[in-house]
Amino acid sequence: MSDTTRPMTTRDLFAMKRAGTRIVSLTAYDALMARMLDSSGVDVILVGDSVNQVVAGRSTTLSATLDQMIYHGRAVQGAVHRALVVVDLPFLSYQVTIEDAIRNAGRVMQATGAPAVKLEGGVTMAPTIRALVDRGIPVMGHVGLTPQSVHALGGYRVQGREAAAAERLMADARAVEEAGAFSVVLELVPAPLAARVTKELTIPTIGIGAGADCDGQVLVLPDMLGMNPGFAVKFLKRYADLDGIIRAAVSAFGEDVRSGKYPGQEHSFE
Ligand code: KIV
Repeated sequence: MSDTTRPMTTRDLFAMKRAGTRIVSLTAYDALMARMLDSSGVDVILVGDSVNQVVAGRSTTLSATLDQMIYHGRAVQGAVHRALVVVDLPFLSYQVTIEDAIRNAGRVMQATGAPAVKLEGGVTMAPTIRALVDRGIPVMGHVGLTPQSVHALGGYRVQGREAAAAERLMADARAVEEAGAFSVVLELVPAPLAARVTKELTIPTIGIGAGADCDGQVLVLPDMLGMNPGFAVKFLKRYADLDGIIRAAVSAFGEDVRSGKYPGQEHSFE
């Protein structure tokens, strides 16, 4: 863990890569969780558009809106002292024109106070990344499986398995770096390819389903906490069974209320 007395910056992530210190990243969507992650030493808190799935209950990230991301981004940024907060730009907020991208990314930073945004795409999005970076907006890239393109990709599948696809993914990662992004998420990428990207790039790579050789790892918080037991994928490690813990607590509360055991005298006012 780097200096815990001041907020993390994008420069710290470069220093961590150079020093071989792994970057710890998780998603968060609210102040309560963000505070816990921050005080547990998480380096990068991503306000992912996965909020649209895990909080809003939609089947993809595609219908996430700018206002939704701002609402969650503001809650997270307001609760954090050290971690670098990165807010996802939602689908269609940056793909149509570069002017849109600048206005929307700027609005996210102004309204949330978060110091950085993330957007999906490689070679195609490089001019947009460059335009944002040139205007003082730090950008995290995202290549490999890009969930906003799930329909075009034919599902949530590992990317870059064949030689030609691997070369395209390499080109995407290079384009993101050359455009000035400060780091890049590699999602659902074969481990040897992610290792190659990580070795070749000077910006830190943050993997999700991309093997052990990335400069850092990110997971979707409710998934790693075991709050979403129906979601089982090979790369996911569950560090808790909150689904079981919450269900047991709620059942116990129900039993106490029905039996009259709660509230007891100690919970009541004279
Ligand atoms: O939206 C999200 O949570 C993400 C992570 C999966 C990297 O983009």
